[in-house]
Amino acid sequence: MSDSTETVVQADPSVLAGLDAWRELPVKQQPSWPDPEATARVSSQLATLPPLVFAGEVDILRERLARVARGEAFLLQGGDCAETFAGATADQIRRRIKTVLQMAVVLTYGASMPVVKMGRMAGQFAKPRSSDTETRGDVTLPAYRGDIVNSYDFTPEGRTPDPQRLLDGYHMAASTLNLIRAFTQGGFADLREVHSWNRGFASNPANQRYEGLAREIDRAVKFMEAAGADFDELRRVEFYTGHEGLLMDYERPLTRIDSRNGTPVNTSAHFLWIGERTRDLDGAHVDYFSRIRNPIGVKLGPSTTVDDMERLIDKLDPEREPGRLTFITRMGAGKIRDALPPLLEGIKTLDATPVWVTDPMHGNGITTPTGYKTRRFDDVVDEVRGFFEAHRAAGTFPGGIHVELTGDDVTECLGGSEMIDEETLATRYESLCDPRLNHMQSLELAFLVAEELGDVR
Ligand code: PEP
Ligand code: CO
Repeated sequence: MSDSTETVVQADPSVLAGLDAWRELPVKQQPSWPDPEATARVSSQLATLPPLVFAGEVDILRERLARVARGEAFLLQGGDCAETFAGATADQIRRRIKTVLQMAVVLTYGASMPVVKMGRMAGQFAKPRSSDTETRGDVTLPAYRGDIVNSYDFTPEGRTPDPQRLLDGYHMAASTLNLIRAFTQGGFADLREVHSWNRGFASNPANQRYEGLAREIDRAVKFMEAAGADFDELRRVEFYTGHEGLLMDYERPLTRIDSRNGTPVNTSAHFLWIGERTRDLDGAHVDYFSRIRNPIGVKLGPSTTVDDMERLIDKLDPEREPGRLTFITRMGAGKIRDALPPLLEGIKTLDATPVWVTDPMHGNGITTPTGYKTRRFDDVVDEVRGFFEAHRAAGTFPGGIHVELTGDDVTECLGGSEMIDEETLATRYESLCDPRLNHMQSLELAFLVAEELGDVR
């Protein structure tokens, strides 16, 4: 609300012009909208809708990530590869949040370290694709680019990009975020509820191990309460949102000028990252990201050179501010031990302190003979171990983990203690995009990371 005491700082015209400089640059992975004018109209509408997150929250996250950069906290990012509109139900959102909260408890308790919790949620709707089209039999149609662009239905109508979906995406993000805020601010995420997050999941070994840990936490909390500690602070949990900032017709209109200081903030999420396919130094995405104040991430694949890294830092974090820039490495289990160490040595010469996060998913994709896109849990684990090994050897801090997961009992990744095999994949494979860890595999991974992190401390 505005009143006479509020000082609204206007953006400098050059700041506003800069926010649109990307329009003159090569831009990858955007849909071919059939009617660009209709898309422009929707973008203008989006520009009038309320922000989804607030600049002050974004600033707090930057401070939290600065702590991660300094080795004082750990970042956990998790959620769907591609959120779907149909999947934005209360039950599915709740199970995903519970899974992230459970993983965070395992990490916090196991490694005695604060955990910054972030969902790949409330906006992870747009997908980069390796091909613009998909062919089935003798029919070729535009590729599915995520629910915010077109439909997964393999029909000409379904696959035609529809700008109305940008508005639907905004509203889905708003209702998802509303539920996230309700759960994490309304007492559900209270550490004293640590047992209840485990309810509703089928009993399994990872669950049982979690129960044991939850009992220990319960005892510790009761002891501290008896000793006079006030745990009401635990009722609220900070939970941030992040997604790949891919779709410029969505991200640009949701970029607003912070009335307190005139700087641009992307209000579609607290954190945004640039994908491996759109991080060209002279491309639209890097230019746009260089101008927003949010903490941002960049995915780094196995071919990244120290020179690439230096140029990304110069452009995206020229002031070298801890918390501004997160490098999310996604090398593949077979490559991380060769590809990451030179970057960690290189960073020492660049006077920068990025947050280092491992994404052990995107470098480990395989396709089964039966046609399922999957990942081996063992490869995921191996990449995580390789990440910790490289950081231990370099003396840098392994700051976080970025995973595709769901709270549901899906069968999308091979292995884990349920020993999902190629035949089992078919029983409950629901992802429209990449395979996700299920609830049990997510918890198993959290226990493993907690052990690795415990060794770092
Ligand atoms: C993703 O995170 O869903 C993704 C597409 O990753 P990457 O850019 O690393 O391939
Ligand atoms: Co993915």
